[in-house]
Amino acid sequence: MTEKTSYSDKKTKTLQAKKMKTTIEDDNASLHGNGLMAGAEPPANDSERKIETQNEREKIFEKIREQVTGLFFGLGGNGQTIELQQIMDPETTMPKRRRKQKNSSANGEESIRKIHEFSMKPKDIRDYLQRFVIRQEGAKKVLSVAVCDHYNHVRSCINSPEENLRDYSKPNVLLLGPTGVGKTYLIRHVAKLLGVPFVKADATKFSETGYVGNDVEDLIRNLVRNADDDAKLAQYGIIFIDEIDKIASFGGNGRDVSGRGVQVNLLKLMEDSDVNLVAPNDITAQMHVMLSFGEGKPRKETINTRHILFIVSGAFEKLNDQIRRRTAASAIGFGNRGNDSRDSDFLHLATTADFVEFGIEPEFIGRLPVRVACEQLRQEDLAQILLTSEGSILRQYESDFAGYGITLTVSDEAVDLIASMAVEEKTGARGLMTVLEKLFRDFKFYLPSTEVTMLHITKETVKNPSAALQCILHNCNSPAAESVSAEIQGMATR
Ligand SMILES: Nc1ncnc2c1ncn2[C@@H]1O[C@H](COP(=O)(O)OP(=O)(O)OP(=O)(O)O)[C@@H](O)[C@H]1O
Ligand SMILES: [Mg+2]
Repeated sequence: MTEKTSYSDKKTKTLQAKKMKTTIEDDNASLHGNGLMAGAEPPANDSERKIETQNEREKIFEKIREQVTGLFFGLGGNGQTIELQQIMDPETTMPKRRRKQKNSSANGEESIRKIHEFSMKPKDIRDYLQRFVIRQEGAKKVLSVAVCDHYNHVRSCINSPEENLRDYSKPNVLLLGPTGVGKTYLIRHVAKLLGVPFVKADATKFSETGYVGNDVEDLIRNLVRNADDDAKLAQYGIIFIDEIDKIASFGGNGRDVSGRGVQVNLLKLMEDSDVNLVAPNDITAQMHVMLSFGEGKPRKETINTRHILFIVSGAFEKLNDQIRRRTAASAIGFGNRGNDSRDSDFLHLATTADFVEFGIEPEFIGRLPVRVACEQLRQEDLAQILLTSEGSILRQYESDFAGYGITLTVSDEAVDLIASMAVEEKTGARGLMTVLEKLFRDFKFYLPSTEVTMLHITKETVKNPSAALQCILHNCNSPAAESVSAEIQGMATR
């Protein structure tokens, strides 16, 4: 459990950490300089020198161990004690994090090689997304183009560094649209296809100062963590920030003026800035840096955000209403869209002025040149998701039942009914999960204890799952089925 630390606490900890660092540096200097080593005989040969260095290192670590123990026991504020073993691997005296980094460096190199040789075409990306994401054709195309443009640029910067000097407007993307229509799903699959590090965060978690909520720079540090501590690879990653509409500075769904502060901090990151890999209030990470100094192999300490692609998304519900009112007032053109228009259709018409009126700062929205709205999913789209999407939740249920030796099949009519019930949930494709969970709840609990090997779901099963389950158990003449059937009947009469 993490506890919030007050500003004054943090300040004290930072001061203590600084003080500790200075003391360790002093000790380091005395070990290498005129202190402990002064007057000592120079080592006779290589192996003696090696032992000498090892002894020096052990002394430094011992000193650090004392300092850290003192510091953590001194702090003790939130009752959290950190063992040095958590930071150090005793066998190799190499920080665990760095060992992990070493093990995964092969993967990192492979990913970097992929970026160096990036040659995908927008259509390749779109075709890949088609396998998972139903509808959202506009979003798929726009994303594919933005991603290809960006990684083509990254590739040319890597291959000819002078390209870095050229003006470049990063195609950061703003995805609008209602809940559960595939915004996050799209981005996850893009990142997976490219093999670049990916981090997802909610804009609501950030605060302007970082004292109460997270600091926006933590996003970059998390990206590095997701890249197995490979800062070189992380600088080509994708950062996805959800719920961006919740940091509107006024109007809209905005919370308060601090939303503006978060936007300002984010826009610095979105262009070209250097972020410290070690958070000032992260004592463990500060320790890693000190230890790497001790080993004479300091880590790369900053990461540049120039090549990180930012994709933000939000439901922008009130913006939709705002545009609906604007277009209705104009009475002509888009204002008259007929009755079958989807509620979220108005987001397609959002202009920069609409976003500014909503509470998004002009400098912020200006750094999101690629904007596209996802559509609300209709009944036929939800049915399509069940039937054809490679990530269909139905596949998951099929494999769950297969785990008990039961083959699950669902009739087309049942799929349609499930989809129409999911639409009523008004949570997009997430509604499918809700409906299926209710439908299969008892089947999943009782059938594995019977000898049933086939489960066919019809429209009637969807309408009345418990009656259908009774019927299956009745027809299945095993003693286990009979006892289960009696249990269900008992529950029904209670
Ligand atoms: N268009 C779609 N095609 C296929 N599956 C989808 C689609 N939209 C959503 N899903 C399914 O629903 C789940 C939730 O979707 P996702 O997380 O992308 O929603 P979202 O649009 O990001 O919503 P929110 O605004 O609430 O974050 C996905 O993991 C996926 O299984
Ligand atoms: Mg999402």
